[in-house]
Amino acid sequence: MSKPVLRRSLLLASAVMLAVMPTTSIARDPASSPGASGVGVISEKEAVARADRLLAQMTLEEKVGQISQRFDIASLFPTGASAPPGMPAMTPLDDNVRKAELGSLLFVHEPAVANKYQKIAVEQTRLKIPLLLGYDVIWGMRTMFPVPIGGAASFDPAGVEQARAIAASEARALGIHWTFAPMVDIARDPRWGRIVEGAGEDPYLGAAMAAAQVRGFQGDHIGAAGHIVAGPKHFVGYGASVGGRDYDSAYLSDSELYNVYLPPFAAAINAGAGNIMSAYMDLNDVPASANKRLLTDILRGDLGFKGWVVTDASAVHNLVKQGFAADGADASVRAITAGVDMEMSTAPNAFSTLVASVRAGKVPMKRIDEAVRRVLMVKYRLGLFENPYVDAAAAERITSDPAHAMAAQVAAERSLVLLKNDGNALPLVAGAQKRVAVIGAMADSPGDTTLSLAFPQDAVKAVTVFKGISERLSGIATVETTPGVQLSRLVPSPLAMLLGPVTPWTPAQAADELKKAVGLAARSDVVILTLGEKIEMSSEQASRSDLALPGDQRKLLDAVLATGKPVIVVLMNGRPLDLTGVYDKVPAILEAWYPGSRGGTAVARALFGDVNPGGKTPVTWPRSVGQVPTYYARNLSHDPDGAGRRYWDAPSTPLIPFGFGLSYTSFTIAPPTVDKAELAPGGKVVVSTMVTNTGARAGDEVVQLYIHQRAGRQSRPIRLLQGFRRVTLAPGESQQVSFTLDEANVRYWNSIERGWVIDPGTFDAWIGNSSLADAHTSFIVSGAPRAAH
Ligand code: BGC
Repeated sequence: MSKPVLRRSLLLASAVMLAVMPTTSIARDPASSPGASGVGVISEKEAVARADRLLAQMTLEEKVGQISQRFDIASLFPTGASAPPGMPAMTPLDDNVRKAELGSLLFVHEPAVANKYQKIAVEQTRLKIPLLLGYDVIWGMRTMFPVPIGGAASFDPAGVEQARAIAASEARALGIHWTFAPMVDIARDPRWGRIVEGAGEDPYLGAAMAAAQVRGFQGDHIGAAGHIVAGPKHFVGYGASVGGRDYDSAYLSDSELYNVYLPPFAAAINAGAGNIMSAYMDLNDVPASANKRLLTDILRGDLGFKGWVVTDASAVHNLVKQGFAADGADASVRAITAGVDMEMSTAPNAFSTLVASVRAGKVPMKRIDEAVRRVLMVKYRLGLFENPYVDAAAAERITSDPAHAMAAQVAAERSLVLLKNDGNALPLVAGAQKRVAVIGAMADSPGDTTLSLAFPQDAVKAVTVFKGISERLSGIATVETTPGVQLSRLVPSPLAMLLGPVTPWTPAQAADELKKAVGLAARSDVVILTLGEKIEMSSEQASRSDLALPGDQRKLLDAVLATGKPVIVVLMNGRPLDLTGVYDKVPAILEAWYPGSRGGTAVARALFGDVNPGGKTPVTWPRSVGQVPTYYARNLSHDPDGAGRRYWDAPSTPLIPFGFGLSYTSFTIAPPTVDKAELAPGGKVVVSTMVTNTGARAGDEVVQLYIHQRAGRQSRPIRLLQGFRRVTLAPGESQQVSFTLDEANVRYWNSIERGWVIDPGTFDAWIGNSSLADAHTSFIVSGAPRAAH
């Protein structure tokens, strides 16, 4: 099996989602927290001292082992299963651990397996160093939250933080110490499948979500009970791959790198992230995993990162494939000297060649020691030397905590975005329609509601849209479902290897299924139609050349519309789609993303008005793939008002702007005011507005602040998000919302000065509920043109 295929499987194996639970507290039980004894009490200084004492006793071979991480392939499959053809061997890693060849494993997620490996490490190796166990805990562990793009749509960092804290508590309970998350890559090209794993297109929102996720995973310090180390990824520029093609090279000017792609990493590091994962692709023709400028000059120098850097999976081996390194030994030397501290790999680890390379004088021992020290330090800080084991009974209790499921439901509710609602088609009145049809390929598919390959039992438990609606209307309406279409990828997903092949429908079957769906629609009073993509159409190795609805979904929509029955569309997808032939034809569209374990309940509650959708899209929706990339924070051109003049065959504007989302109620946002006209050096300006719920229902509005520098030493985007707040208001209620701006909000990285600068002059400020916000004010940045920090 190719590495990428395996990687994808892995990624999917851990998947779940994000979001919000403002009213539910997270169960924290330090006593039952595995490895909790002594955690968090050790200072950085103490960790260095202990690590150095141990380092002094280590052989070169043991040191190289410490910085080698290996896939535990067997952990990807149920006990007793044999690996599908093409998959690397499932041989347990007992011997490698016993020989101290590995300092870390990935994919172990069962207490018994974790304890088995730890026992070998601490009882059968010379120095008794425990293992560090890492996993892709991305949008949940056992309890699945909305995918990260959905979490970002909540515009609620505190909620996302709580979701990640729950995921961390479940993961830690299962024996996991470290997550390869959050993914903080800015993504402005929805063809790129991994846009689903991040916070979308905007650096300000991306930074807020990055910091929130790090705090959620890690708690307030590395080693906090019930938490795990966060490893923001992929450093850096992966989201800018040419053509949205996964793994392709990225080319970024320094202006884009510093102003757009680095801010979420900087925020994650400021929030204390203990680890960083390097990216696969070439950035400006140098692979990110052997790129000294990125991994040392920028990461350590500019961003002040102090933790350890792991490569993406098999990224050291890939340096050879990428035409950069001559062989595995050369690749290892170049990766470690560029700033990598640990290699993530299937067998064999390229890093094993470092023993000879150090002896040959190609890598200074000092560099190896530095990397090993960083890894040992995190093991000390996590308390693993005191207690490397996990308590299986506690794991069961923690991972099945009902509060987690409730949190996942709230998170899903808050991630919903109402994209269209003509004539108040939504909410529906429960019971007003006696027969409800729930149609679509994702309508009753637990695996497309959430995803949990490693834990199939959890995916089965997911509440689908059909199930959620059935439960909501139990006793008051008849609810029926049918898929209508079958969706498949032209190039099968790596996931297919784990799930087994799906038999494609014959043309006759497809015609029958479509007929069945139309029949169901015709005998129903309303149709809830789920459209979008199957979950394997998003994430790694899931880039597309087109953004149209896959398969026969438009045909299905047209056929269902032809029955004359009211149709409400629920979108389930991980990227903006081309909604041609959908957007104009239906009155209401509710974006659900992949909403997680309780996604169907959340969708049903929104459809029937028990909750009021309040999310906003964290990414611009193009009208068609030809507009890609399109994002709101573009520069003005010499023809700023030339609407329609950029393309002659289509409008220049997108279909749905960044930050947009409707509500069942209405809001007014008063013209903003500033507390003073000038932002002086070292000073602040407060921009305020009053937001009022002018409708008849309680609801949430996300008040957004955008600013624009009118003139300066570099062209700056037409507008930039610099503040947002999600507020909940009762009918008639008003709330003042204020944003404090300081020099950090107006500085930018300048390509001529090659550094951070502040340009004095006039800045526009707009406040509103999307990137089209038009309530305007302005302020002056005073003082001289200056450098900023
Ligand atoms: C992905 C990473 C992931 C790793 C381990 C890689 O293929 O790019 O995001 O953390 O696999 O699953």
